[in-house]
Amino acid sequence: MWRSVALLLSGFSALIHVSLQGPHQRSLLKNLLKDYNRMERPVGNDSQPLTVVFTVSMIQIMDVDEKNQVLTTNMWLRMSWFDHYLQWNQSEHPGVKNLRFTTDQIWTPDILLYNSADDDFDSTFKVNVLVNSSGYAEYLPPGIFMSTCNVDVRWFPFDIQKCELKFGSWTYDGWLLDLQMEDADISGYMPNGEWDLIGVPGSRNEAYYDCCKEPYQDVKFIVTIRRRTLYYALNLLIPCVLLSSMTLLIFVLPADSGEKISLGITVLLSLTVFMLLVAEIMPATSDSVPLIGQYFASIMIIVGMSVIATVVVLQYHHHDPNGGNMPKWLVLLQWVAWFLRMKRPGESDDPERPPCAPHLRRCSSGSHSGSIPNPANNNGNLLYMGYQSMEDPSILSDGGGFGGGAGGLGGCPAAGIGDAQLQAILEEVRYMADRFREQDETESVADQWKFAAAVIDRLCLVAFSVFNIICTISILMSAPNFADAISKDFI
Ligand SMILES: *[C@@H]1O[C@H](CO)[C@@H](O)[C@H](O)[C@H]1NC(C)=O
Ligand SMILES: *[C@@H]1O[C@H](CO)[C@@H](O)[C@H](O)[C@H]1NC(C)=O
Ligand SMILES: *[C@@H]1O[C@H](CO)[C@@H](O)[C@H](O)[C@H]1NC(C)=O
Repeated sequence: MWRSVALLLSGFSALIHVSLQGPHQRSLLKNLLKDYNRMERPVGNDSQPLTVVFTVSMIQIMDVDEKNQVLTTNMWLRMSWFDHYLQWNQSEHPGVKNLRFTTDQIWTPDILLYNSADDDFDSTFKVNVLVNSSGYAEYLPPGIFMSTCNVDVRWFPFDIQKCELKFGSWTYDGWLLDLQMEDADISGYMPNGEWDLIGVPGSRNEAYYDCCKEPYQDVKFIVTIRRRTLYYALNLLIPCVLLSSMTLLIFVLPADSGEKISLGITVLLSLTVFMLLVAEIMPATSDSVPLIGQYFASIMIIVGMSVIATVVVLQYHHHDPNGGNMPKWLVLLQWVAWFLRMKRPGESDDPERPPCAPHLRRCSSGSHSGSIPNPANNNGNLLYMGYQSMEDPSILSDGGGFGGGAGGLGGCPAAGIGDAQLQAILEEVRYMADRFREQDETESVADQWKFAAAVIDRLCLVAFSVFNIICTISILMSAPNFADAISKDFI
C-alpha cells in the first residue's frame, strides 16, 4: 500500500521535474533555508576566507569592434565554493544527491567583469546554483559580455589582438573571499570566420592599495585572437597591389596618346576609394597608423610622384624646339640612356657604321624606318636629292659650276639653259637647301627633347618599379606575424 503511494509520488514528482526525491527534499529544503540568510558569507569560521574557484568557458567571439574598441564574447562563467550552511547527511535524506537554488535564495559571490562595456553592467543570465550534500555549490551563469578592449590596429590586417577580461569580487577583499583561478576552457569554442582563437591564458593577481592592508584579488583572462587575412587580402591588398602596378603603366604609355596624366589621376582616385574603405573600419586614432594605411599612403605618394614625373616627361616631349637648346645637365641623360641600354632613333649599335650626326639622320634611313618623315611626292624627292648633293661640300665650293658638276642635279638636262638662269636656279636651290637644313635642325632639336622625355620615362619606369616592389615587400612583410598569416590563411 505505502509502496504504491511512494511509487505514485515519485512518478508524479518525476513528471514535474523535481527529481525522484519526494518528501526528503522538501523537508531538507525547508530545514536548510529556515535560518539561511543570503547576505551572510557561508563560512564556519568568520575569520577564515571563503575560497571561490573561478573560470570561464569561451563559447564564441561575436564581434571585435575596432572603432569603438569593444569585444563581444559569448562565455559561460564558472564559480564554485563550499557553502557551510548547505550540507546534509545523505543517509538521512536518501536519494537527495543535490539541490538547486536560485541566486536570490542563497549567497553567491559578487564577481563581475570589471572592464564591462555593457549597458547593464552585469550581463550574466541568473541561472540556478547546484549544491551537493557536502555543500559544494556550483554556479555557471552564461552571458554575452561586452568588454572594453584596446584594439591595436598597428599591424592591420596582419594583427593579433589581446583583449583582457578582468573578473573580480566587487565588494569582498582577499581576506573575506579568496579568489582562485582555473584555466579557461575552450573545448566548446565555436570557430569564427574573421578571427582565429589562439588561446585564453589566465592569471590571478593580488593588488595592495595604500588605504588598506588587505589584498584585492582579480582574475584576468587574455583573449588572444588572430585576424584571418584572406578577406582583407582579397578585398583590399590585391586591388591595391594591382593599382600600384598600374602606376608603372603610366611610364609605358606613349606620350603622344595624351592619356598619361589621366591614367595617373584615375589610379590616384581609385586608391583614395580603397583608403576610405579602410578608414571606415579603423578607429579614429593617431596612436598608430595601421600597416595597410601606411601601404596605401606610400602607394599614393608613388602615384603622385609619377604624375609629377609624367608632367615633366610630357613637357619635354612637346617642348618647343625654338625655345632654346637643351640645358647642359640634360647631357647626363646620355649616361642614363646608356645605362638603360636605350638608343636614339638612328643610332646604330654596329661599330663599323659611324653614328650619324643628328642633322644627318637620313644617312641610315635604310635600317631605321621610323626616321623618314618626308612625304614621298616627286617634288620633295627631287628637292631632297638636291639637298643631299648640297651636303657635299666639294660641290658647294665648286663655285657656280653646278651644271658642269658630274650628275649635279641627278641628271637634269642642263643643255639650253643660260648662265643667268642657272644662277637663278642655283639661288633657289640654295635657298631651299637652307630651309631644309633649318627644318632638319629644328626637327633634330625636337627629337632630342623627345628622346630626353623617353629616357626620363624609362628611368621613372625602372625607379618606380624598384620603389614599388621595395615598398610592397618591406611594408607588408614588416608585420610580425606575416608569415604566420600567409601560411595559415592562404596555404
Ligand atoms: C577561526 O580562525 C582563526 C584564524 O584561523 C582561529 O584563530 C580561530 O581559532 C578559529 N575559530 C574557530 C572557532 O575555529
Ligand atoms: C549520517 O546519518 C547516519 C544515520 O543517521 C549516521 O549514522 C551518520 O553518522 C551520519 N553521518 C554524518 C557524517 O553525520
Ligand atoms: C560534492 O562535489 C565536490 C566537488 O565535485 C566533491 O568533492 C564532493 O565529494 C561532492 N560531495 C558528494 C557528497 O558527492
